[in-house]
Amino acid sequence: MNRRELLMDRARSAYRDAFGAEPTRLVAAPGRVNLIGEHCDYNDGLVLPCAIDRETVIAIGESSSAEISTVAADFGFERDAFGINQTITPAGEDWKNHVRGVAHMLRQRGIELRPAQIAISGDVPIGAGLSSSASLGVAAALALTMHSNAALTATELALVAQRSENDFVGCACGIMDQLASAASTAGSATLIDCRTLDYRAVPIADSLAIVIIDSGVRRTLTESPFNTRRAECEAAARHYGVAALRDLSRADLDENRQNLDETLFRRARHVVTEIERVRQAEAAIAGADLPALAQLMQDSHRSLRDDFEVSIPQIDRLVDMVGDTIGERGGVRMTGAGFGGCVVAVTDADVAPEVIARVETGYNAAADANARAAVYAAASGAGPVG
Ligand code: GLA
Repeated sequence: MNRRELLMDRARSAYRDAFGAEPTRLVAAPGRVNLIGEHCDYNDGLVLPCAIDRETVIAIGESSSAEISTVAADFGFERDAFGINQTITPAGEDWKNHVRGVAHMLRQRGIELRPAQIAISGDVPIGAGLSSSASLGVAAALALTMHSNAALTATELALVAQRSENDFVGCACGIMDQLASAASTAGSATLIDCRTLDYRAVPIADSLAIVIIDSGVRRTLTESPFNTRRAECEAAARHYGVAALRDLSRADLDENRQNLDETLFRRARHVVTEIERVRQAEAAIAGADLPALAQLMQDSHRSLRDDFEVSIPQIDRLVDMVGDTIGERGGVRMTGAGFGGCVVAVTDADVAPEVIARVETGYNAAADANARAAVYAAASGAGPVG
């Protein structure tokens, strides 16, 4: 069995064990890695993530009670149930809230939910910055929508999952993760304009490999300064009198700075320069322009480290070591919200084994750490499976 078949098998058997019946359908939604464009989505900017070959699989089927009953194979086969005719409220554990929140938001959109039984199984590492939450949210939105005989576009599914995170789970995330999970194309990154929600596939040159290095340092966004960063960006946008930092040019940044304090200025500078880097990275990734990619990803990392202040020493060390190995044969930077999690390298495919060896021997021995590196494929977005 391949990776996906194993997940499907696990979801099906969790379903059988919990509910004594067979599911009627299976759906999957991937995690994502952001190649460049960090902390730009909630500033209405541009981002360039790609879906990865790690995902959440949901098995869903009929229920005879007026409830949605859920079992999570990866959380000790824990169960949850909530009535579909009552107000849906948060339940405590995070995984439960992702399903409840999505059900609540679907109902708010006017979708009449049908009773359902759900089994969840996934292999997106949790808390690593690869969007396990978004993949669960999008998978739940797709499963419940299809089960209720409704149809939503990829963008609508992503919005449902994002609102669930924002207003139910309590994380002020932008739209990037959910839209990457819902709308990506295999073999491509997805360039998203987070203001208009327009997106397009940017084919990743065949000669390139995506290497993800998991530092092993875990965090949850609701407990990290993520929401503070978002508030700082909004305060900076108010200072400049723009709807969002996306509307600022580099020239505006300095010309209209006036009495803006140093911290908010640096937050704004990160966002403005990062959006410019996304525009340039599109061509570099499609055309395998490795020296350009090396520079853009290095600048992105430094900006996140120094101006946005969301990196940590272990991640900086990994980025330095891997950067040293790659040279100009690709780029490397922290990825995701920060405060731990993963580093992403986009390199000439021939360089990937060197990167993996450097991390798993050099870095781990020197730092007494347990970082893991592997090549990932750019996967397609959410859909039915099996
Ligand atoms: C998290 C959020 C995203 C985005 C990134 C940072 O993954 O969920 O919306 O803001 O951080 O780029």
